[in-house]
Amino acid sequence: MKTLRERRGRIHLGGFFHPTGNHVAAWLHPDAQIDAGVNFSHYVELAQTAERAKFDLIFIADTVAARDGNLDALKRWPQYMAFFDPTMLMAGFASVTQRIGLVATASTSFNEPYNIARRFASLDHMSGGRAGWNVVTSSNPAEAYNFGLRALPPHDERYARAREFVEVCRGLWDSWDDDAFVRDRSSALYFDPRKLHYLRHEGRFFSVRGPLNVARPPQGYPVLANAGVSDTGKEFAADIAEIVFTPLNTLAEAQTLYRDLKGRMEKYGRRPEHLKIMPGLNAIVGRTDEEARETHEFLQSLIHPDVGRQLLSTELGVDLSSLPVDGPLPYHLIDASVPQRKMLVEQAKRDNLTIRQFYLRYAGARGQRTVVGSPQHIADDIEEWFLKEGVDGFLVQPAYLPGGLKDFVELVVPELRRRDLFRTEYEGRTLRDNLGLPRPLSRYMHRAAAE
Ligand SMILES: Cc1cc2nc3c(=O)[nH]c(=O)nc-3n(C[C@H](O)[C@H](O)[C@H](O)COP(=O)(O)O)c2cc1C
Repeated sequence: MKTLRERRGRIHLGGFFHPTGNHVAAWLHPDAQIDAGVNFSHYVELAQTAERAKFDLIFIADTVAARDGNLDALKRWPQYMAFFDPTMLMAGFASVTQRIGLVATASTSFNEPYNIARRFASLDHMSGGRAGWNVVTSSNPAEAYNFGLRALPPHDERYARAREFVEVCRGLWDSWDDDAFVRDRSSALYFDPRKLHYLRHEGRFFSVRGPLNVARPPQGYPVLANAGVSDTGKEFAADIAEIVFTPLNTLAEAQTLYRDLKGRMEKYGRRPEHLKIMPGLNAIVGRTDEEARETHEFLQSLIHPDVGRQLLSTELGVDLSSLPVDGPLPYHLIDASVPQRKMLVEQAKRDNLTIRQFYLRYAGARGQRTVVGSPQHIADDIEEWFLKEGVDGFLVQPAYLPGGLKDFVELVVPELRRRDLFRTEYEGRTLRDNLGLPRPLSRYMHRAAAE
């Protein structure tokens, strides 16, 4: 492992943007873009702001279903109800940005590898080598209902499909050698047929002949990201992921995951520095701690009780919609054998929380870590997690947009630079260059090198 000093200047930052912001009540903030989900100019402003700050990447999540649940609550909560397909959005970003990485989610459960390989190869070409794919197996049952299923396939089955899916995509990206397209008018030769490879994949889930109808991506393969929390998810990440967004709440937890994930990579022939761990950071920044606290409290005050109750209902697996918010949780109805739920119930009991107090604590950032404070306070936190090898960087999730991003960029980024923790200029042209990731050789080059 590196010494603390050697780690300086190498933090990676991504912007993770839910349309109006990450806070559950973001859209009610008077400075949030109220129609953000379907407002392309809003997204362009975010992308360009993040690029001016030299962020490594922008990440946009996805689910192929609108959120399900109690409409009385959903009508007050726009997240995942009306927003763009992120790969389309990224194609738009490619033409209004030059250097920032463009990472979009696509599900391996509700796509076919040929479509996805083609889409991300296209994005990589269109952006000059800036594409990234967040590989998800999908965990929202509502997605199944849109694809002819009554339920999601079991967790392990989804991951088995994901592994084969990624293997097929990589095979398709290798369809053409990097120099296959000679495009020589004098000999009337467009491509060299010796540099074209048919995949002929026959597996458990897919049968794909190939070749892909796009040239090999500039990055070889787009950068692969993942956010698995389960053991199967972590194993998958150790095998394929180059960025991991897994949520982390304490530094000790982060350090454990850092060692765990990087330690699992060797058996896949990978080096630990070829995986960047970048959990979400809900940073609410103000010029002073007091100002930041006021912003946070204001956002918290905007959470509607129906939304708070709905969020807790989903998390605890029990319908709280008719219970008084200032009363206790119905502990006798909650099945606390589910690990995540058990932790929440223990917290609520320990602190003797009412439903309102509990949703206020939980709902704002859906249980993810929130750091509220001055630029110095937030930079201290980032610095500590980075230097103590808990993370390689963070996904900045502004509470409301565009203001929250602007605050982070204007207040926290200069403070990180003052401490020599963050770049002042992009290192290279591609997302791989900026993350310090190698460009993968085609499998056929590997074979040629071995012969
Ligand atoms: C920062 C972050 C972003 C995520 N983005 C998506 C997403 O866009 N779409 C999705 O279906 N799941 C997303 N997830 C969920 C994960 O892909 C994963 O399913 C979840 O963390 C549970 O882990 P497991 O698959 O190992 O059980 C995200 C998780 C995190 C922490």
